[in-house]
Amino acid sequence: MSVLDTFRLDDRVAVVTGASSGLGVAFARALAEAGADVVLAARRVDRLEQTAELVRATGRRAVTVETDIAEPEQAQHMVDAAVEQLGKVDILINNAGIGTAVPATKETPDQFRRVIDINLNGSYWAAQAAARVMQPGSSILNISSVLGLTTAGLPQAAYAASKAGIIGLTRDLAQQWGARKGIRVNALAPGFFRTEMTDEYQPGYLDAMKSRIVLGRTGDPAEIAATAVWLVSGAAAYVTGQTIAVDGGLTIN
Ligand SMILES: NC(=O)c1ccc[n+]([C@@H]2O[C@H](COP(=O)([O-])OP(=O)(O)OC[C@H]3O[C@@H](n4cnc5c(N)ncnc54)[C@H](OP(=O)(O)O)[C@@H]3O)[C@@H](O)[C@H]2O)c1
Repeated sequence: MSVLDTFRLDDRVAVVTGASSGLGVAFARALAEAGADVVLAARRVDRLEQTAELVRATGRRAVTVETDIAEPEQAQHMVDAAVEQLGKVDILINNAGIGTAVPATKETPDQFRRVIDINLNGSYWAAQAAARVMQPGSSILNISSVLGLTTAGLPQAAYAASKAGIIGLTRDLAQQWGARKGIRVNALAPGFFRTEMTDEYQPGYLDAMKSRIVLGRTGDPAEIAATAVWLVSGAAAYVTGQTIAVDGGLTIN
């Protein structure tokens, strides 16, 4: 097998949460291009159908599952639907997330809890459900953020805590499930990619951030999707427990 063949995901079944917009769409499309069938989960089913069309255009199968990942039973239902309709789960990308920026002295308990519930707890519910059915050689990829590693000038205690929590979750699940279950667990820490989440920023914020980005620009979702394909493929068979920043060099500044 050539080195490029080890990146292929032929006949693998991948579940992508948050596949209705932004990076999740890019992950789903790239996984399908690499050969995987893809289960697409999020709350907006109409938008999932659009992603499903992109997957089917590559010749792969797509299944959409309306899911609020903050609810453990809905995370379980997502995995059950994958097994019922596509037979198994080889890959999980825990990508669903919300971003907020609220000054700490003003943030309400409900605001803080909502971010943790979706970003951190939701990743755990999905990983638990997936790991119960995954066979050796499977892989989980959690989407953290550079905000799990550093700050970026906004009041983001909830978001930063959720994303730093994902890095700890990744490390622990990797050690629990490595030798015992043959499941690799890694995380990506994206820098800035223009999506609906970054549309929420004040005008000028992203431009101001560019001075901290070594490559001097925001990323294209296809650039992080390529790293995701590598990490969930056999090409990364000896990589587990790691958090890899795909950030144009932001975290070295
Ligand atoms: N864009 C960036 O620069 C950047 C940087 C660092 C990290 N990230 C991370 O990358 C991931 C994707 O973000 P994005 O930039 O692509 O933002 P986005 O376009 O806003 O996408 C977020 C996705 O998460 C889904 N989602 C939100 N709450 C959910 C819930 N309760 N249950 C299920 N799905 C839910 C949304 O779908 P529905 O609304 O349809 O449910 C949507 O598909 C997030 O985890 C984010 O924190 C992004």
